[in-house]
Amino acid sequence: MKKNNFFLFAALALQLAACNNGDTVKEKETAILTAKAGITEKPFGTFEGKPVIEYAITNASGMQVCIINYGGAISRITTPDNKGEMGDVVLGFDNLDGFLQKGNPYFGGLIGRYGNRIAKATFSLDGKQYTLAANNGVNALHGGNKGYDKVYWNIEKQAGDSSLKLTYTSPDGEEGYPGTLKMEVIYTLTSANELKIEYTANTDKATPVNLTSHAYFNLSAGADSTILGHELMMKAAQYTPVDSTLIPTGKIDAVAGGPMDFNTPKLIGRDIANVPGGYDHNWVLSRSGSGLELAARLVHPGSGRVMEVYTTEPGLQFYSGNFLDGTLTNTKGGKKYVWHGALCLETQHFPDSPNQPSFPSTLLKPGETYHHTCVYKFSTQQ
Ligand code: BGC
Repeated sequence: MKKNNFFLFAALALQLAACNNGDTVKEKETAILTAKAGITEKPFGTFEGKPVIEYAITNASGMQVCIINYGGAISRITTPDNKGEMGDVVLGFDNLDGFLQKGNPYFGGLIGRYGNRIAKATFSLDGKQYTLAANNGVNALHGGNKGYDKVYWNIEKQAGDSSLKLTYTSPDGEEGYPGTLKMEVIYTLTSANELKIEYTANTDKATPVNLTSHAYFNLSAGADSTILGHELMMKAAQYTPVDSTLIPTGKIDAVAGGPMDFNTPKLIGRDIANVPGGYDHNWVLSRSGSGLELAARLVHPGSGRVMEVYTTEPGLQFYSGNFLDGTLTNTKGGKKYVWHGALCLETQHFPDSPNQPSFPSTLLKPGETYHHTCVYKFSTQQ
């Protein structure tokens, strides 16, 4: 294919597949002619009286990331396969109703104030006991009944046309957490096909903070119904074993060549039957410092798509979509999101840290700044 035709084809595929569902053919044609690197906006509904916009960041090679105000969620990531064909590699919904449905398992959302579980929905701080909503059996999960994936984030386009700045201030006492937490999240799509997520936060009272992103990846872009045929590498010699309610026991175990060992890349489906319930654990990353380091590498052999995960955080939750059961509605193109239909790789501190004195601390005090960077880098191999 000639270079120009290739770009036209890529732009066409991108615009048809990407953030323009429901548009008329004429609008699509116009969009094709104007497809270029930058940020575009499209109305996506209304939430609590405020307009929800879907922002699409496109880079010069045609990769595109879409973000919405509701939950600050990633609604779409369109990347090329090893033949240059574009495909959307995250699960999501065609409209806001999809995101708002009961049982939306945090698709693409920003998670906090405390991502992952806090045992028995309680913790003590400076001699005071705090009670959270028990929204996952007896435990607290992903910030409570209305975590940051269910709030309205303000979004501002940044100079350079490749970044969005999202802000949300969580009031003192929201979902039971102490202190007003001011947050800023910057999503950047780089020219090297990296989606960079940079979190910062400040508080006016000591509070536990563990922010993360809950994108559900399936690099086959719809070709494979599950991720069992994806190959995963995680740079982690240890993980935190859990009890029957998925709360860490407090021990840190070696992966030691067993089903939890992903130091040498292996198919996710290879050992999953030996992990009761599937993978839903925190791996202790083998790190050499506190900077941005490679944590994981995911490959879909069929399409050649590769995703590397880099982080500054000490842990990585690998969740193999164990609770997806095909019942979600308003899914993209009406697709059934079945058991193990996608996976999450959530960069984070360890679950239940506020109750586990031996884990790295998640406490943020007034005058300190919470920093966390995560990069999902997309490429291909033959
Ligand atoms: C957790 C799972 C939970 C899922 C909800 C993951 O981060 O580890 O246990 O069911 O989020 O979608």
